[in-house]
Amino acid sequence: MLRTHTCGELRIGDTGKDVILAGWLQRSRDLGGMTFIDLRDRFGITQLAFNMETDATLCGKARELGREFVLQVTGQVVERSNKNPKMETGDVEILVTDLRVLNTSEVPPFTIEENTDGGDELRMKYRYLDIRRNAVRRNLELRHKLAFETRRYLSDNLFLEVETPVLIKSTPEGARDFLVPSRIHAGQFYALPQSPQTFKQLLMVGGLDRYFQIVKCFRDEDLRADRQPEFTQIDCEMSFVNREDILSTFEGLARYLFKTVKGLDIMPFARITYADAMKYYGSDKPDTRFGMKFVELQQMLQGAGFPLFDEAQLVAGIKVEGCGDYSRKQLDELTDWVRRPQVGAKGLVYVKFQNDGAIKSSVDKFYTSDQLHQLLEACDALPGDLLLIMAGETHATRKALGELRLEMGKRLGLRNPDKYACLWVVDFPLLEWNAEAQRFFAMHHPFTSPLPEDAQLLATDPAMVRANAYDMVINGVEIGGGSIRIFDRELQATMFDALGFSPQEAQNQFGFLLDAFRYGAPPHGGIALGFDRLCSLFGGSDSIRDFIAFPKNNAARDVMIDSPSPVDQAQLKELHLKLDQKQS
Ligand code: AMO
Repeated sequence: MLRTHTCGELRIGDTGKDVILAGWLQRSRDLGGMTFIDLRDRFGITQLAFNMETDATLCGKARELGREFVLQVTGQVVERSNKNPKMETGDVEILVTDLRVLNTSEVPPFTIEENTDGGDELRMKYRYLDIRRNAVRRNLELRHKLAFETRRYLSDNLFLEVETPVLIKSTPEGARDFLVPSRIHAGQFYALPQSPQTFKQLLMVGGLDRYFQIVKCFRDEDLRADRQPEFTQIDCEMSFVNREDILSTFEGLARYLFKTVKGLDIMPFARITYADAMKYYGSDKPDTRFGMKFVELQQMLQGAGFPLFDEAQLVAGIKVEGCGDYSRKQLDELTDWVRRPQVGAKGLVYVKFQNDGAIKSSVDKFYTSDQLHQLLEACDALPGDLLLIMAGETHATRKALGELRLEMGKRLGLRNPDKYACLWVVDFPLLEWNAEAQRFFAMHHPFTSPLPEDAQLLATDPAMVRANAYDMVINGVEIGGGSIRIFDRELQATMFDALGFSPQEAQNQFGFLLDAFRYGAPPHGGIALGFDRLCSLFGGSDSIRDFIAFPKNNAARDVMIDSPSPVDQAQLKELHLKLDQKQS
């Protein structure tokens, strides 16, 4: 070993010990008689002291060193006269007797400290330097701990970790596939898996009973803070189970992780149906850390001659506590906010219940004071509260009001990252109509089974069928999703029929799975949790990028290795590919 101790472990009890440390020079201070260096490694920072009086040569050498030089020092642990209570090693320093420069460094493009001066793109380009910073390192440590404890919990519960292939077959499962051209088979392509869905089902046919994998998945979709083109799932499947078994196993996993990684006992998961989630929160992943549930008001408000309400399919509002004194300017600003294309509302109606009991609203001329009082009562509003109301087509209105609810929650500090509201959203629709393609698509995937009581509707009224599917939602983030699968060939055939697949198309796409189902498939179901999202939730951040060692930027580029990038003509030729004129 090039060291006896790490830079994070020496304490006052070590005083007098002769030690060897190695690490990076974070910063140095030259105080004339003394030179001090902060030496950093993964475990912490230790102060090195060089005394001009006792060893002028060594001290002179120390003054020559630059930031991020890699050093090995020998010396004695001494008590610091000027202690630093903010540092774990802040009671001691090393009086250095020997110094070796293991490597030099160019001046780094940004400061490698807790608060850096480097912008996002620069830090992405030099991600290996960013990883030296505490903030990023801590996130990767958290990721490791979560993966480790996940493996422990699942292994203890008899799950086997099995690897599934990465070069697979392109199948339409939601997002666009990343394709890999075959050299040996001209004109043919592998696809990178969007998830190991079909393989984990085949492992159940194979009798493995309980499978898991912490696995890379690939989806060619537009990026957002919680989406990367390659991301990681905790992917799981179980045989001989029903929905309750799966929900309790994975609620168990979440509770175990909160306990072991954060020391928290979380409340049992609440349950909400998809239909209620949409009705009360305008979202299939509601943030239930705070209330502001929607109140439907069309019965009360229609028929008073106000066209926006009278012509609407839905009129719904939220009560925002303590905002009854909002100024005209604040309300105008909110109206502008909801009219932005991202939210897309036509407008916003307000009713202020002022602290003095007076009511002020933007619809005063259509409603009497009594009617407005009734409205406030229907929403359980007290003096000091504000009602915000939207109207229009049901789905669009719910969506826009849902956005407004989240925004108000944020503005009022109700979305506290240290508070956790965990939820199962259940009974999703099995199918959703795609107007462009003029056919149904599976909302989850084509192997999801209908709720047993709805199965007979599949052939006659597919839009009404609810799925035996569930999402794990924490603090408004879809952490995971899964379903009980179809394991019966006939039901699977009816499902493909409802999706508009001919038997031949179904056989071409999924023949391997349908064939496997001929040989005694057990009842099975599973779930996949988005591991990057779980890490960012535990780390209290909205962005999963911070928890991935080498993420892509918003344009899906890796700016460090410069990927994607062009390849040479010979490579293309080998792969039987030709770029069109514009691209070459
Ligand atoms: P689903 O598509 O819902 O289910 O994905 C499961 C979870 O993976 C996470 N996730 C993502 N995370 C980061 N970036 C992305 N682009 C991304 N896409 C999805 C989400 C999501 O809840 N095979 C099924 C699971 C099953 O039925 O067992 C599946 O993949 O947290």
